[in-house]
Amino acid sequence: MEKLKEITSGKAKSLYTTSDDRYLVMNFRDDTSAFDGKKKEALLGKGAVNNQFNAFILEHLDSEGVNTHHIEVLNTTDSLVHKLQMFPIECVIRNRASGSICRRLGTEDGLILESPLFEFFLKDDDLGDPLINDEHILSFGWAKEEHITEMKKLTYKINEILSKLFLDSGLILVDFKVEFGLLGGEKIILADEFTPDGCRLWDVKTGKKMDKDRFREGLGDVVESYHQVADRLGMNIKLD
Ligand SMILES: Nc1ncnc2c1ncn2[C@@H]1O[C@H](COP(=O)(O)OP(=O)(O)O)[C@@H](O)[C@H]1O
Ligand SMILES: [Mg+2]
Repeated sequence: MEKLKEITSGKAKSLYTTSDDRYLVMNFRDDTSAFDGKKKEALLGKGAVNNQFNAFILEHLDSEGVNTHHIEVLNTTDSLVHKLQMFPIECVIRNRASGSICRRLGTEDGLILESPLFEFFLKDDDLGDPLINDEHILSFGWAKEEHITEMKKLTYKINEILSKLFLDSGLILVDFKVEFGLLGGEKIILADEFTPDGCRLWDVKTGKKMDKDRFREGLGDVVESYHQVADRLGMNIKLD
C-alpha cells in the first residue's frame, strides 16, 4: 500500500493516507523527544528498530486477544494500520514508581507498588500532558463511561501479558503508556505504538535502564539498548 499524503506529524511518527481510506501508513522517524518536546534529537536507526519492535509487541498482544490497529509491516520504518478516531488520552500503568510520579509524590525511584497503578493523562504537550481522572474525561467529553472502563481493563490486561513477556527475557516492565482509538465509532482498539520510547524496561540482574530514560538522562547507547531488548525477545530487526 502506497503512502499518499502526510496527515499528522507528531514528535516521533508521521501518518500518511493510503488509497483506501480505512488504512493509514505509520512511519517511525528517528526523531526522539523528551520533556514534552523540550529535548529533541534524531537518533540514527531508531525509526527502524521501533517500527519492528512495535509490530512484534502488537502482534503478540493480538495473539493474546487484545485488538490492535496493526495490520502489517511494509518496510523497515513503516507499518500499515487501521485509521481510528483517537481519544486525546494516554493510559499509563506503573508497576514501580519512576519518572514523573516520583516528582509528583516524592517517591523513591524504583519503589515496588503494592498493586499496578493506573493513571490517565491528557495528550497536550503545551500543558505538559497533565494527570486527569475519570471525572475530567466525562465532564469534558473526551470519552464515554464505557470507553473509560474498557481502556482501563485493556491496559491492565496488556500489563499482565507484557510484564510476563519481558520478565521471561530478564527485563522488568516498570511502567508504560498506551493510546486507544475507536474503529467504526464503537470498537475500542489499541493504537499508536508500544516501544522503548513509551515504557521503562530495567534489566532484572543489573537494574540497567534499557528504554528512553537513556535519552532523557543522557546515558548514551539509546538505539543500541533498544536493539539489545529486541534481541533478547527474539525479534529479527532488519536494517536498511
Ligand atoms: N490508528 C491510528 N489512527 C489515527 N491516529 C493515530 C493512530 N495511531 C496513532 N495515532 C496518532 O498518531 C500520532 C503519532 O505520532 P507521535 O509522533 O507519537 O505523536 P505525538 O507527538 O502526539 O505523541 C499521535 O497523535 C497518535 O495519537
Ligand atoms: Mg506519541
